[in-house]
Amino acid sequence: MSPTSPRRIWRAPAVRALLLQILAFPLTLGAVWLLARAGLFPSSAMQSWLGVALVQGAWAALLAWRAGLASWWRAIQFLFPPILLLARQGADALALPPAAFLAVFLFLLLVYWSTFRTQVPYYPSGRRVWEAVARQLPPDRPLRIVDIGSGLGGLVLDLARRRPDCELSGIELAPLPWLASSLRARATGSRARFLRGDYESLNFGNYDVVFAYLSPAAMGGLWRKAEAEMRPGSVLVSYEFDIVEREPDRRIVTTDSRKILHIWHF
Ligand SMILES: C[S@@+](CC[C@H](N)C(=O)[O-])C[C@H]1O[C@@H](n2cnc3c(N)ncnc32)[C@H](O)[C@@H]1O
Repeated sequence: MSPTSPRRIWRAPAVRALLLQILAFPLTLGAVWLLARAGLFPSSAMQSWLGVALVQGAWAALLAWRAGLASWWRAIQFLFPPILLLARQGADALALPPAAFLAVFLFLLLVYWSTFRTQVPYYPSGRRVWEAVARQLPPDRPLRIVDIGSGLGGLVLDLARRRPDCELSGIELAPLPWLASSLRARATGSRARFLRGDYESLNFGNYDVVFAYLSPAAMGGLWRKAEAEMRPGSVLVSYEFDIVEREPDRRIVTTDSRKILHIWHF
């Protein structure tokens, strides 16, 4: 199934959570009507809106539980309507223009883009991880190395500096991190190349080393792709997240937080 197929998008937890909020709305109206008739609903406008938001959140959390969404979605579903209401009231109190919400939304959209579908948000690895990856690279031959989900490009730019004999590239789905990494490469005169796109469209067979810092949700699919495409002699490196289907050939502790670099040889 293609990553952008409608079936995969409808199955994404964030899309299901949104649909459950919509489904919760008529149930909220019914519950509020019954509570008001029984005299159990607050009468002041402020309290009654908060009451409606809490009833909506409770329905949405219940539906998330019934639909089998992961446990943290219950908290998100419950808190989402009251937080939305409080943000609205806060904006009124501070006289923020509606455009401020649009600007924040657009910024987050450009940073997180398809995270609702991929379940892989942006969070960076660090210098100690880059050093550990560099130490794993065979020193005696040129390599083609790719960071799938390259974020702001830190790892790729660092390796390009350390290994002038290697071809370094990154691929990133989200527009703003991709733009930042491309501008950083240009500003520093780096040979590193950054593509904007989905790593699922890459052929891993074209690389000697594939580096991934993704999320648990992506690891099963990543393994199936790596197993189908990677050539003998190539290496898959995943920071922090393991693959249940196959034990890594090496595990390296890279930081004090005990996050591990997992390495598979093909
Ligand atoms: C945890 S960050 C890692 C960033 C970078 N590799 C690092 O080590 O600092 C994961 C990145 O992968 C990107 N991403 C998620 N799914 C992707 C996909 N299918 N194709 C390309 N990039 C993707 C996200 O937008 C995010 O920027």
